[in-house]
Amino acid sequence: MTTRTEGSVESLPESRLPGPSSFAEPASAPAALLLLGRAQDLGSERGVECPGDLPAASDPDLVARAHAARQALGSNAFVLGHHYQRDEVIEFADVTGDSFKLARDAANRPDAEFIVFCGVHFMAESADILTAAHQQVVLPDLAAGCSMADMAAIGQVEEAWDTLVEAGVAEDVVPITYMNSSAAIKAFTGRHGGTVCTSSNAEVALNWAFAQRPQAKVFFLPDQHLGRNTAVRDLGFSPDDCVVYNPHKPMGGLTVEQLKNARMILWRGHCSVHGRFTAENVATVRRRVPDVNVLVHPECTHEVVSQADQVGSTEYIIRTIQAAPAGSAWAIGTELNLVRRLAKAHPDLKISYLDRTVCYCSTMNRIDLPHLVWTLESLAAGRPVNRIVVDPDVAHWARVALDQMLALPGL
Ligand code: 13P
Ligand code: SF4
Repeated sequence: MTTRTEGSVESLPESRLPGPSSFAEPASAPAALLLLGRAQDLGSERGVECPGDLPAASDPDLVARAHAARQALGSNAFVLGHHYQRDEVIEFADVTGDSFKLARDAANRPDAEFIVFCGVHFMAESADILTAAHQQVVLPDLAAGCSMADMAAIGQVEEAWDTLVEAGVAEDVVPITYMNSSAAIKAFTGRHGGTVCTSSNAEVALNWAFAQRPQAKVFFLPDQHLGRNTAVRDLGFSPDDCVVYNPHKPMGGLTVEQLKNARMILWRGHCSVHGRFTAENVATVRRRVPDVNVLVHPECTHEVVSQADQVGSTEYIIRTIQAAPAGSAWAIGTELNLVRRLAKAHPDLKISYLDRTVCYCSTMNRIDLPHLVWTLESLAAGRPVNRIVVDPDVAHWARVALDQMLALPGL
């Protein structure tokens, strides 16, 4: 997604080093954000062409145009902004939040005909599933996907299930899918008696699954790191209780015995942003910043999570920083748009970015001001664009899995 460049915090000019009073911008990665939208990968560029005119990013009237279109739409539109969105987009969000909170916020606004989802595709799908039939969910750029969600295609997951059946373990298996998955995967989970989880309630979801049957196993999709971190860190399993199912290998690259012995069967998926942080990043920031608290998202690798001081969802990270004592030092391992906003909002804290180089989510970043203006102006002109509609049967079963999550304690 983003491309790693060499360099370390130590090698950055002094002005870029984490300092006591200012946020140090990571070094930029030259190839970051350039691969999409330039005919380099046509398969991943669906939706790049916008019917009508997409305003130029250099248009000096973009902000005024966005305000005018937003005003014209009034309460007929509800604009949602995920925490990882760009500042220029967040400025126009009626509410901000993580994917689960935003889907719930959308469902609580039945008066709004248009839900403009500034986030990625799986989030807009969930909003479509949870909102009323008369509401239209719109994604300003259809190329705003999620590489982690794309790592689990429904055909691969059905094949994996057949493997579990043939190995004689399927009857003990409870599937759990992370919110960050397609509607089709959520529906698969609903059909097989499982649940959806978020990074805030993964522990509760795993406890629920293991209570289903004495020898229960969890088939965790699509983020191996969230699954492993929750099982090992929160529930006390050994890493050896976890196996990784590789959809590109026969039988997932596992033996029948491995499948029988495992308690956690982890899908081989990961987040291209959080998966970049390394234990070396943690060691480096500890050397650089005295008394630093390392705060990371559970989509990071188990190695990174094991070295961190605190681990939690995006909402947890925000709450932790809001409650931090003045003068305390933090190195945060999550998406850069959010960390930069947190640093700006809390000048009394010493906030550093955990990675050495730029670490945006490039698909989140596809939603920019030109796409937002184009979307709002099209809606205001009575021409809805980029509507996300989930197939009714898929929506039904995905809803079953989402409702199961809502029935878990603590939500
Ligand atoms: P949460 O916002 O649920 O923590 O998920 C992080 C993420 O990667 C969203 O795409
Ligand atoms: Fe997907 Fe990771 Fe981007 Fe979230 S941050 S949308 S999980 S690639």
